[in-house]
Amino acid sequence: MSTVAAPLENGFCNGSDEGATSAKRIKLGPQLTSEIRTTTAKPAAATNGHTTAKPTERRKSATACSTEKAKVAENGHREAGNVEEKVTSTASEVTVRRNQDGEVSDGHVTTEDWKTKWERGKTKFHKAQVHGMLKKHFHRLSQEKETPRFLVPLCGKTVDMIWLLERGCGVVGCEFVELGVQQFFAENNLEYTTESLPEDVGGTVYKGKDKDITIYCTDFFKLSSALIGQFDCIWDRGSMAAINPEDRQRYRDIITDVLKPDSRYLLDIFEIPHDVFSGPPHNMDPKDVTQLFGDLCTVEHLEHVDAMNPWSKTWGVNYFYENDFLLTKKE
Ligand SMILES: C[S@@+](CC[C@H](N)C(=O)[O-])C[C@H]1O[C@@H](n2cnc3c(N)ncnc32)[C@H](O)[C@@H]1O
Repeated sequence: MSTVAAPLENGFCNGSDEGATSAKRIKLGPQLTSEIRTTTAKPAAATNGHTTAKPTERRKSATACSTEKAKVAENGHREAGNVEEKVTSTASEVTVRRNQDGEVSDGHVTTEDWKTKWERGKTKFHKAQVHGMLKKHFHRLSQEKETPRFLVPLCGKTVDMIWLLERGCGVVGCEFVELGVQQFFAENNLEYTTESLPEDVGGTVYKGKDKDITIYCTDFFKLSSALIGQFDCIWDRGSMAAINPEDRQRYRDIITDVLKPDSRYLLDIFEIPHDVFSGPPHNMDPKDVTQLFGDLCTVEHLEHVDAMNPWSKTWGVNYFYENDFLLTKKE
């Protein structure tokens, strides 16, 4: 395993500081309570969950809850809608957690939330450059096969897929948000055809006309080897890290179903504290990888890197480590 200090290019996100707000601790004194009240013009939004509200409405929802909780703060820990507040001292202080975009959030993200992020251009997770870990470990991942078939789960519009195509790989991606898929083809000047997926899966499959690339525009959790076949390689950046932690077992089941025996999975994940930062990315410890995959794959820990960058610094986190693993499916 190699350990490297702060190579910014390898972070989950390499965006600028623009638009991000760090999480903050709120003292619930009388003065703040009245400040909060002045921002709760539409407290009804607080009951609507977080999939439809606009960012400003979300803030209002959150502050509406904060005001409510100021009155019930002795209870210690409570969740409502997309807000989680932890009372850290008796009735006087709460911690509000925020996501990468500075919005109050409990960290749980639905596919509809991702759609909203894409529609609002909140896609700083997208990198203009090919990911350093993919380049560095490509040969071990592909095992020098000439035309390996690659899966890129939760692919967004990553340019890593173009890089893989240029190396003769067949590429299959999966992205729930149609806008992301369409931007991928448009920004890379790729022509495509589309077909509807079976009704029980839902969505559309986009196929490159002249390039060996297919993107399933659907919920990853609907995929199976029966639908998409099996793969020589899987490149996972911002995928395992993005799904809700309670879905990891289901995610693992699909990954290991679609991976051919003796084939390889390069997994890029993060260690990050969630006291004030809600995620995604969600924290995943190295031991969690062995626990999740150890019975089906051999697990090699390749990299442990300080991935703190200007953007992650604004999240209020005091560490942000990137870990890469090479998993090989047991025969
Ligand atoms: C953090 S981004 C990472 C994208 C890409 N891997 C990259 O490196 O740029 C996660 C992506 O997964 C998509 N996504 C989230 N949940 C999904 C699901 N259940 N099925 C398919 N795509 C999903 C989001 O729309 C988003 O584009």
